[in-house]
Amino acid sequence: MKVRKAIIPAAGLGTRFLPITKSVPKEMLPIIDKPTIQFIVEDAVKSGIEDILIIISSSKSSILNYFDYSFQLEENLKNKSKFKDIYKIKEIADIANVQFIIQKKPLGLGDAIMMGKNFVNNEPFAILLGDDILINDHNPTLKQCIDIYNRTKSSVLGVQYVNDSDVNKYGIIGIKKNILNSVFEVSSVIEKPSIKDKPSNYAIIGRYVFNPEIFDEISKVNVDSTGEIQLTPAINSLLSKQKVYSKNIEGKRYDIGSKLGFIKAVIDFGMDHDEIKHELKEYLKSINDI
Ligand code: G1P
Repeated sequence: MKVRKAIIPAAGLGTRFLPITKSVPKEMLPIIDKPTIQFIVEDAVKSGIEDILIIISSSKSSILNYFDYSFQLEENLKNKSKFKDIYKIKEIADIANVQFIIQKKPLGLGDAIMMGKNFVNNEPFAILLGDDILINDHNPTLKQCIDIYNRTKSSVLGVQYVNDSDVNKYGIIGIKKNILNSVFEVSSVIEKPSIKDKPSNYAIIGRYVFNPEIFDEISKVNVDSTGEIQLTPAINSLLSKQKVYSKNIEGKRYDIGSKLGFIKAVIDFGMDHDEIKHELKEYLKSINDI
């Protein structure tokens, strides 16, 4: 069966970006003129996803509004003959079939995914997390995982190599077997290990394809010491029943959950942005000379 549905959990509190995230969802922080969640949705759509479920909290209605039509704004732009802008805003609302569910309590990633069980309706599906913008203009990054799913019919975790100093920020995979150049059979996943305990340097970077059996495993996960239901224990119990593969994702990654990663994305996308690229380059040169 084709992978055509994706869940994007976006209900987190965004504490790493306080105070701005007190009233602006971290998914709506702009990379120049586009919110970060649009990059995630675009990766899904370019990868062949047709239906998207975004899990939000009630305080994040600006995400919902962003993917809705905006008749008043359209009317206003029409009166000013700004047809290019009308196209730009309509294109966002038409990008895919986007639906929303509210996660009433911040009970963790596993709980958020569980809210998509009916939407998924027993099909293989993708998950995209919002903290990583992954760019590959020739081969969309989620598609790289979907291609491996299509060949194996097994769940696939998107990974990338990280330095020792970063293993404690991610779920890190243990490797059972090297299948292809960039594909491993996974033996286990350890959530945020110390360097001493790391099973490898390959970190899960927020792109997954799962068989629907993952829901049975999430439903058995106990709440952890922080009061959350995590996804990683469910992946480990899925591993005891089915093969799970990882795909080393080819593409440039921006960790926009970190302030430095975010500003790097703003600069790189700015250097590519028709309206500002020349002046931005001049400006960056000028501050480099100081
Ligand atoms: C989550 C997952 C982790 C993964 C990471 C990727 O952690 O639990 O396995 O590596 O996303 O961004 P979080 O960043 O929500 O703590």
